[in-house]
Parts: sequence; C-alpha cells; structure tokens
Amino acid sequence: MSDPLASLKGNVAVITGAGSGIGEGLAHCAAAAGMQVVVADIATDRAESVADAIREAGGDAMAMPVDVACPGSIDALAEAVHTRLGDVTMLFNNAGVETVGFSWELSSEQWEKTLQINIHGAIHGVRAFAPRMLASGRRAWIANTCSIGGLGMMPLQTSYILSKHAMISFSECLFLEMQLKGAPIHVSAVLPGPVATRIFADGGGGQDEGSAQHRAMMDAMLHADGISGLEAAQRIFPQVVAGAFWVSTHPEVTQQMAAGRAQHLSALSTPALPAEILASMGLAVPE
Ligand SMILES: NC(=O)c1ccc[n+]([C@@H]2O[C@H](COP(=O)([O-])OP(=O)(O)OC[C@H]3O[C@@H](n4cnc5c(N)ncnc54)[C@H](O)[C@@H]3O)[C@@H](O)[C@H]2O)c1
Repeated sequence: MSDPLASLKGNVAVITGAGSGIGEGLAHCAAAAGMQVVVADIATDRAESVADAIREAGGDAMAMPVDVACPGSIDALAEAVHTRLGDVTMLFNNAGVETVGFSWELSSEQWEKTLQINIHGAIHGVRAFAPRMLASGRRAWIANTCSIGGLGMMPLQTSYILSKHAMISFSECLFLEMQLKGAPIHVSAVLPGPVATRIFADGGGGQDEGSAQHRAMMDAMLHADGISGLEAAQRIFPQVVAGAFWVSTHPEVTQQMAAGRAQHLSALSTPALPAEILASMGLAVPE
C-alpha cells in the first residue's frame, strides 16, 4: 500500500475543538501533511486565528463554527464541508470539556453539557460524516479523542471520566462495525496523557471550595507536567495515519493504566481512593 502520509495531500480533514490545545495541534499536523483543514470550534474567534496561522504558514485551512453538543450543528457542519470541499478523509472528534464537582452537586445542565459535548459530540460526528465517507468507498480515518482517564477512576471528575470510558467503548464498537462492513475506514481511540491546555481553566462544575481547588490543582499539574498541544498532536497524528487503534501520547503511562484497570477488573477489586494524587492536590483522604 502507498505511504498513507503522502497520499493525504489535498484531502479534507475535519477537526472539532480545533481552536485550542490538542485540536489546534492536530490542525497544524494535518496542514503540514498538505491536507485541507476544517478548523471547527464553538469559539469562532479562536478557530479563525488557528486557520489564519495555518494559512500564514502556507497551509490550507478554513474555520467553521460548530457546537458539538447540538446534533443539528454537526449536521450543518457536515453539509457545509461536503458542499464546499467534497469528501472528508479524516475526522477528529476531539472537542471536549472538563467538569469538576461531586456528582450530586453538579446541576442537571452541567451534567447534560459534559455528556453532550464529550460523548454525543463524537456519536453525532460519526452519524453526520460516516455515511458519506462510506459512500465514497475511499480510505478514511475517524479518530475519537478519549483520555487515559478512560482507563481509570477519579472522584470529583466523575462526569468527565465516565464520558471517556464511554468514548473508548464507542470507539471499540465503531471499529468493529467498520470491520463488519469491510469498510476502508480506520478507527482510532486517542488516549492523551497530560497536555498543557486550557481544559481545566475553562472547565465548569461546582463552585464550592473543594471543586475550585481541584480544578486549580489539575490546571497547575497539566501546566507543570504536560506536553504542549502541538507536541501531543505530533505524537498522535502519525499513529492515526498509520491506522493504529490505540493511540497514545505517553505510551508508558497508558500501559500502566491499562494494566491497572485490567488487574482491578479481573480481581473485581473495590474502588480505592487514589491517595497519592489526591494528596498532591491538597485533598485529605479520610482514615
Ligand atoms: N489536556 C489534557 O491533558 C487531555 C488529556 C486527555 C484527553 N484530553 C481530551 O483532548 C480533547 C481536547 O482537549 P484540550 O485539552 O485540547 O482542551 P482545550 O480546552 O484546549 O480545547 C478544547 C476545544 O474544544 C472546544 N469546544 C468546547 N466545547 C465545544 C463544543 N460544544 N463544540 C465545539 N467545540 C467545543 C473549545 O472551544 C476548545 O477550543 C478533549 O476531548 C479532552 O477531553 C485532554
């Protein structure tokens, strides 16, 4: 088979949440591969400036608005992309938000928002884009941004963590469905480790002291230990193009988390508080 990276030139990539962080990095990687990049984000000003930066560097990019929490908005994006640019070769369902707080203290709106963006956004991305990808009969890629968090558990980030477990499951089943169809569409589950982005700074959730402290500590941890959005994307993009199902930015951590999860489930262990992580956030674990 021909070098997939070389064959991407001139093809269309759609990336949601591309106005910042990992999505922004992926937009730059797709542009560097010679693709026509649709920088899709709810923050249209940020999407415009990412598209401007790509064009200034000699790439091909167009900003388009989308609210992935709204199925109709994703349908409109798919329609606009196909009308203006034709077949889509690569779809990154990447937009996501963090929400912090005790499960019973988040409002119904906060719960709905998190699940709609983090889970339904990808589901409707596939529903809106996959039929035309399949009809084209061409080789294509769908990559869903999950998280290493989808291999573990973390109190106060329940809505986020469960959304990422769901995204792994969605990606696995979607992969099988494409196999069942004999479709030339690669499906990837992208599991980033810590990446220094705005995700916690922009995150929603409880306004109580504990939630605010947890959000601030997670934000500080990402900025102290995380790689940049561009570096994460530079690790992710070639793995996706190569057709890997599991895609990682920090392979050792991913392995460790996956092994821990497997061990936890095979022993049917009772969930245990991650004392070390919580302590590093200044949160005491009760005796
Ligand atoms: N940063 C990390 O450490 C990390 C780790 C694992 C997974 N992730 C995942 O990576 C993805 C990207 O996150 P990031 O860290 O780059 O965050 P980010 O906040 O920097 O970027 C997310 C982008 O998504 C956009 N967005 C939010 N809601 C939207 C909506 N309804 N419709 C369209 N766009 C919307 C935001 O405007 C923003 O530009 C998310 O799915 C996140 O869960 C991040």
